[in-house]
Amino acid sequence: MVGDVIDFYYFSGTGNTLLVVQEMGDVFKEKGIQANLHSIEGSKPDDINLNHTIGLGFPVAELSTYNFVWNFIRELPETHQNTEIFMVDTLAGISGGVVGPVYEIVQKKGYQPVGAKEIIMPPNIFYIQDEETSKEKVQRGLIIAGQYAQELCIGNSQWDKPSILSWAAYYISLAGLKITRSSVHQKLFQLKTKETECKSYGICVRLCPVDNITLDEGKTPEHGFNCEYV
Ligand SMILES: Cc1cc2nc3c(=O)[nH]c(=O)nc-3n(C[C@H](O)[C@H](O)[C@H](O)COP(=O)(O)O)c2cc1C
Repeated sequence: MVGDVIDFYYFSGTGNTLLVVQEMGDVFKEKGIQANLHSIEGSKPDDINLNHTIGLGFPVAELSTYNFVWNFIRELPETHQNTEIFMVDTLAGISGGVVGPVYEIVQKKGYQPVGAKEIIMPPNIFYIQDEETSKEKVQRGLIIAGQYAQELCIGNSQWDKPSILSWAAYYISLAGLKITRSSVHQKLFQLKTKETECKSYGICVRLCPVDNITLDEGKTPEHGFNCEYV
């Protein structure tokens, strides 16, 4: 069961996870629970208040999640206060390498894992759906998010423990992330800005969670070799 105050740390590349986190935040507030939303990119694990319940929300990537999200989870402070923690991720359909491994990390740090949920939302990597299907997926996803938040409030949620399959998916994902971060992949798939569409505001520079974008002298964004393809 969650406490009276929740600090909900989330990352969302294209908005699916943000919608889920906001929906859950609304349910918590309806139940009289204070839910503070914090972006993972703008937060330091050291500043976490261990007297509050901790929420983690992020997208699935390559069967688990992005390196910088893993780093945030791995750097969570240890707790001796039995701090409750829950997680939610959003995905297009296949995961496996995140729920179990996150459980193991947070439990070793002394947290009380109270719930984990994976919620299917529209894919943001291959745009294979029409708008109508995407809308339906979002609606269904938000219903599940609301129900999950209610389960957390009454202590009726679960968190699957790591299994051999989850570790297999985790290690496949680690290998995938290693390839993604390799210099060959970074050079082959280096992102480029469409000059005709860029207004040179520099918003991308501020939003990139891995600080991979800079503005050149002509104010055109330049992408480095540290991309996580968010
Ligand atoms: C680089 C990348 C890798 C992804 N890998 C997976 C995956 O392994 N399994 C899956 O079901 N969805 C995968 N997705 C889809 C996203 O997890 C899904 O659309 C998610 O809801 C996006 O959340 P966001 O809008 O908060 O960023 C991937 C998306 C990206 C951009």
